Amino acid sequence: MTITFTDNAASITETGGTAVVLVGGDGALSGTAKAADEAMGGALRRALDAGTFKAKHGDTLAFPFPGAMKADRLILAGLGSDTQTPTDARVLGGKIGAALGKLDAPGATVFADELEAALVAELASGIKLRRYAFVRYKTGKDADKLGEGGVTVVATDKAAASEAFIDTDALAQGTFLTRDLVSEPANILYPATFAERLQELSEYGVEVTVMGQRELEEIGMGSLLCVGLGSQHESKVVVMKWNGAEDAGAAPFCAVGKGVTFDTGGISIKPAGGMEEMTMDMGGAGVVSGLMKTVALRKARANVVGIVGLVENMPDGKATRPGDIVTSLSGKTIEVINTDAEGRLVLADLLTYAQREFKPAATVNLATLTGAIIVALGNYNAGLFSNSDALSEQLADAAEAEGEGIWRMPLSKEYDDLIKSSLADMKNVGGRSAGSITAAQFLQRFVNDTPWAHIDIAGVTLMKEAKPLHPKGASGWGVATLNRLVRDNFEPKSPA
Ligand code: BES
Ligand code: MN
Ligand code: ZN
Repeated sequence: MTITFTDNAASITETGGTAVVLVGGDGALSGTAKAADEAMGGALRRALDAGTFKAKHGDTLAFPFPGAMKADRLILAGLGSDTQTPTDARVLGGKIGAALGKLDAPGATVFADELEAALVAELASGIKLRRYAFVRYKTGKDADKLGEGGVTVVATDKAAASEAFIDTDALAQGTFLTRDLVSEPANILYPATFAERLQELSEYGVEVTVMGQRELEEIGMGSLLCVGLGSQHESKVVVMKWNGAEDAGAAPFCAVGKGVTFDTGGISIKPAGGMEEMTMDMGGAGVVSGLMKTVALRKARANVVGIVGLVENMPDGKATRPGDIVTSLSGKTIEVINTDAEGRLVLADLLTYAQREFKPAATVNLATLTGAIIVALGNYNAGLFSNSDALSEQLADAAEAEGEGIWRMPLSKEYDDLIKSSLADMKNVGGRSAGSITAAQFLQRFVNDTPWAHIDIAGVTLMKEAKPLHPKGASGWGVATLNRLVRDNFEPKSPA
């Protein structure tokens, strides 16, 4: 969808097609809203007085053929009465996007001339985020009717809005990469094709290195590699580097992702019902990929490293068996009790590699790791586990500011004891209780004392319902939070 900013639009009464007007929540009509009301013979005033349209933040009301206006359709959108944060404006844009989607008409003109430029840019990307559609396999169907005509956004300061849109659109484009990757089926997106797509990021200045099976064997990633032994597809690890800090040698922020392109459970095979959803088991790698695209597009002044482990978990004569013992890159041995607890086996080696190779200032890994986190937190919050109160707070603050749910979960010695093995250094599952925590304890065994956080995104990656900023399906949860984490904590403050 093309977004165009203009400070030279026809007046609201002379605008054809679909027009969107923002209405303040205090009931007073000014500027464009007042002009629209007059052209409609006072219909907006009456709607407000009757309470049909309360102009609360994100309320929308559509009028067909609005009075003496040239438009065929008018959408009123409430601003609410509180001051707007950037995320408020983005959410408002998302709700406008939903209302526009229902009209199923091409193009729209959004009068945002009473908002400051930074908020106009957020509103514009909110529309885009909501109208995302994955239609690659719907023959003869375009992404979105609205997109055919493009969206024109009326801003008082066109130059400032366009400038601010570079950053907000970087986030939208990164999020779309994540959603695209999560939506792709496993016959199309397997380790090699995933790696190919990531190589495309070099176009934006990201340094991309792909390590194949042979190289991973030489390095000694025995934990990661044991997951893919049953697959026809070779496992891969992709390292993506964005060097934007003034000090090129500054310790980077490191994002690590689980990229299981399909998870049958392996020999510990999953039941058939819902197994098709395990195409999303590369969600952590998807978020890391989207983050790298976002920081590159907005030219973040930070060093960011993204590492993803791409493997397919299948049953086969060559597959890892329950009871097998593997040696991880760290040298620690793991008894694989359950081949369906594969994500932690992938991440273990990536975490070791990240610390050895990059000595990061902080490391955050993301993974659709456990069904148990969905039992605990549902689809509203991702689970956060960390060895650092400071990093946890930074993540919680970033998530809150971006409107993404996150909730901290505990780690402690008692839980760690649950993954003791009688034959090896540890086993890969800890029994029926506290499944998400024992998974996190397992990961922590591969982390030294640098700040680290693990985010279990099993419940927030694929959504059964639309929300203001995404349609049903792949949400892209986490790109916004990590992008803000980088911006607020790993970049110099830009002079305001
Ligand atoms: N990929 C799954 C976790 C998952 C479940 C993600 C549902 C998204 C939705 C993971 O590999 C897995 O299978 N975990 C097992 C762990 C168990 C064997 C200890 C689980 O959660 O059942
Ligand atoms: Mn599994
Ligand atoms: Zn899995």
